[in-house]
Amino acid sequence: MSNQFKAILLLNVLFFICGCHTKTRNKEDAFINNLLSRMTIDEKIGQMNQVSWGDWNDLARKGQIGSALNLTDPVALKEMQRCAVEESRLGIPVLVSRDVVHGYKTMQPIPLGQAATFNPELIEKGARMAAIEATSAGIRWTFAPMVDISRDARWGRIAESFGEDPYLSAILGSAMVKGFQGDSLNDPTSMAACVKHFAGYGAAEGGRDYNSTLIPQNELMNVYLVPFDAARKAGVATVMCAFSDNDGIPCTANKFLLQDILRDEWKFDGFVVSDWASIAEMVIHGFASDSKEAAMKALHAGVNMEMVSGTYLSNLKALLEEGKVSISQIDDAVRNILRVKYRLGLFENPYFVTNKDVFYAQNHLDIARKLAEQSAILLKNTGQILPLDSNTIQSIAVVGPMADAPYEQMGTWSFDGEKEQTITPLTAIRDYIGNKANVIYEPCLAYSRDKDPKGIIQAVSKVKQADVIVAFVGEEAILSGEAHSMADLNLKGAQTDLIEELKLTGKPVVMIVMAGRPLVIEKELNDVNAAIYMFHPGTMGGPAIADLLFGKAVPSGKTPVTFPKMVGQIPIYYNHKMTGRPATRKEILLDSIPIEAGQTSLGCTSFYLDAGFDPLFPFGFGLSYTTFEYGTPELNMPVFGKQDILKASCTLRNTGDYEATETVQLYIRDLVGSLSRPVKELKGFQRIFLKPGQEKTVVFELPIDNLAFWNAEGKNVVENGDFQLWISTDSSIGNPIHFKVED
Ligand code: GLC
Repeated sequence: MSNQFKAILLLNVLFFICGCHTKTRNKEDAFINNLLSRMTIDEKIGQMNQVSWGDWNDLARKGQIGSALNLTDPVALKEMQRCAVEESRLGIPVLVSRDVVHGYKTMQPIPLGQAATFNPELIEKGARMAAIEATSAGIRWTFAPMVDISRDARWGRIAESFGEDPYLSAILGSAMVKGFQGDSLNDPTSMAACVKHFAGYGAAEGGRDYNSTLIPQNELMNVYLVPFDAARKAGVATVMCAFSDNDGIPCTANKFLLQDILRDEWKFDGFVVSDWASIAEMVIHGFASDSKEAAMKALHAGVNMEMVSGTYLSNLKALLEEGKVSISQIDDAVRNILRVKYRLGLFENPYFVTNKDVFYAQNHLDIARKLAEQSAILLKNTGQILPLDSNTIQSIAVVGPMADAPYEQMGTWSFDGEKEQTITPLTAIRDYIGNKANVIYEPCLAYSRDKDPKGIIQAVSKVKQADVIVAFVGEEAILSGEAHSMADLNLKGAQTDLIEELKLTGKPVVMIVMAGRPLVIEKELNDVNAAIYMFHPGTMGGPAIADLLFGKAVPSGKTPVTFPKMVGQIPIYYNHKMTGRPATRKEILLDSIPIEAGQTSLGCTSFYLDAGFDPLFPFGFGLSYTTFEYGTPELNMPVFGKQDILKASCTLRNTGDYEATETVQLYIRDLVGSLSRPVKELKGFQRIFLKPGQEKTVVFELPIDNLAFWNAEGKNVVENGDFQLWISTDSSIGNPIHFKVED
């Protein structure tokens, strides 16, 4: 076949595809515009109204409900939909929604835990499973993925995020979108995703939820918007604006975000929903004098649907009559909403068939178990105490408030998960080794905040008999998530005393932390032989940790957030700026500072006298039962043009005794820019499985235009200059190699 013929054939194929797409879009637009033309103003405003909890059948008959959330009774849900479809004038279906954030019935690890897997393929499978379960309960729209960049562990919602890195959040958020939305939105097992909270909510000042943010434009474009743009490219159907005000403008009325970026720059064609009552709350912000003005400002900015506060339903008609909003603004909002309903296939198929067989289906439990296992981060393993040998252990003590806490283990935003289905570590360890060894169980504390030492004192004499002690500490689910900020990140209650007492027994101690955020655990770490961190692992957390403790699985998790030594170091994150006086890491710290020390005797660099500079654990950190050896990275060229593709490779060898997976990370640094640039930026990662002694060459392909950033002129550019590149096991180590970019 001649090249000319190939070219003609390719062109014909492309025209055919475009033609199909155009035809589909034309059919879609024709349907939507025809329906819109028949709608009254009341029916149009009704589509912009979302209600929650309660009996809404009458409003549904009037076509005054665009969406409903938190309606979980299938009979009531079907009746409400019947009223909308069969008794309203135009029969427009209601979009049923729910927060299906990390599972519906089968609970997966919280998103921060899923991020620790660095496994987008598995996360997509988890979201797909969640969609299959949720849609069988009538839910066709979920308020996830949450991709707020989170650099502050005091902020409880870090639990719902993918952590501190824009690239990781972009990759994992997109995977979740694809999982929820499936191959086609109109598949009855697909649900519209909702990327949230647009934007910058994670930068709440002081880590106090709902607080103001102060994010300048460069930081907004280069950090906080990155995962939202990725979700948009992944085809996310909806966007939720954030509660917070940035530099004095609530995101609910931020035209730059909702119009200039989302619509004009990104050409997003789904719809925007407010957060819970965030339109009405602009009165409380002091940004609107009353709910009528709030409704006007939200519509002008580009909020298409209002979550529960009802200001659109109450005020838009009057605002239209007063000429303060236009019919085209209302039509645009309604068109976007109808478009998502059309793509979901709701007009042809508004009803659902409950199928409880999919709840906790074995393949769902297997995915949840794999996610929990891969989310676990091995922080310490002195003397290779782990894995435990189930053939030689005679007696194992399982202690702590999180060892048998089925509800807490599911984590925040587990609305529909059932604690009765959760398998706890205690249950799993008994199942695993109970027939061969004596399992001593002592909670020691009733819950994480329990200060009563009685349980600890009573337990010590018993746990002393064990060959090894496994202590499950951390925090209950309620202590992270929305509105659950914390000013002190130390272990609560008498948990630190518990770990101290366990150390005094002289027995080997393994600490497992289950939490919704990185906690400050430096002291406890010093008191134990080994430690594994599991961000609330969900329904199958028990079997996952048992597999890891006894070596049936090997830890592969990596920290998706930096772990501070002290809460005072926050905000602390790896991709910080260099500053003009970076820490040398040789600073004199508190206890070594002499009396009458001279003013400049401690150096003039950026560090804390009492905490130094470095965190407890850097971003991307995680040990294994085996060891890995990295070769020196090599590049395909030393100098690159802007259209080139950089190929970086290095050998990786498993130099230990266990087959295991290592997440190899690729970082770059742009040494000089028209803006000061981060000291490192993650630009790639790969999970590599190796048997003992096996070696592979890991290759990354990085288009040079992936080095682009938004400069001070608001342009997305790759600038010429010198760069460094690392291929490493985490963000803190490795020797860089250099390359140049030139025109
Ligand atoms: C909440 C949250 C948002 C959630 C919504 C519906 O306040 O901010 O993330 O999706 O309301 O529950």
